[in-house]
Amino acid sequence: MSIEEQKKAAAVAALDYIENGMKVGLGTGSTANYFIDALGERVKGGLDVLCVPTSIASEERARELGIPLSTLDDTPELDVTVDGADEILEGPLVLIKGGGGALTREKIVASSSKKMVVIADAGKLKSAGDFGAFPLPVEILPFGARATILKMRRAIEKLGMSGELVVREKNGGEAFVTDNGGFIVDCHLGHVTQPEKLAGKLRRIPGVVEQGLFVGIASVALVATDEGVRVLEKQA
Ligand code: 5RP
Repeated sequence: MSIEEQKKAAAVAALDYIENGMKVGLGTGSTANYFIDALGERVKGGLDVLCVPTSIASEERARELGIPLSTLDDTPELDVTVDGADEILEGPLVLIKGGGGALTREKIVASSSKKMVVIADAGKLKSAGDFGAFPLPVEILPFGARATILKMRRAIEKLGMSGELVVREKNGGEAFVTDNGGFIVDCHLGHVTQPEKLAGKLRRIPGVVEQGLFVGIASVALVATDEGVRVLEKQA
């Protein structure tokens, strides 16, 4: 199975978690897009759901498919959110998210849901020994960005880690700007051994809007492999 086929298989498997009448958070990214497309088919077939998207891109895609949409202001409690991830730590299902720059809205929507279902290809599943190779995305305010990044570097060093902190750019060299008007700093740490501590330290820095470690939010991960879709429940 190609990676794209795995993403699609995981996305289709997530339909098992959707019931008539549910309020559903829609993630962002290529795997989440497969889910939005599959959900759109079900809506055409008569499924009744109300969905809250985590990005402008997902909102536009869902709207084109005729999926009924709401906002978190109008619908502040959701039944389930289905979203992709950049890395999934097997066991506690700690995630690294934000490869698409939507981590803040993704975290707000997922944490407003009774359940977060993560969908991914097999390459995203990591063990403790190799978690954190994907650069950790952190959304910051443009105001005082250099000062915020300096504080982030110091906080990371206090935990005995190091690595380059890079402001994400679009093609052409301009800073990538999120749907919230923020910048993304990609922290190339190589390996994250204390996700909860790192998340806590980064979160406390003024200027940091949100960081891409999702700790204790995901309930189940659907990871597609050549042998089928593995269902991984969060272990305490
Ligand atoms: C976007 C995300 C995505 O879920 C993550 O980057 C995975 O993307 P893809 O499904 O395209 O591999 O966190 O902010």
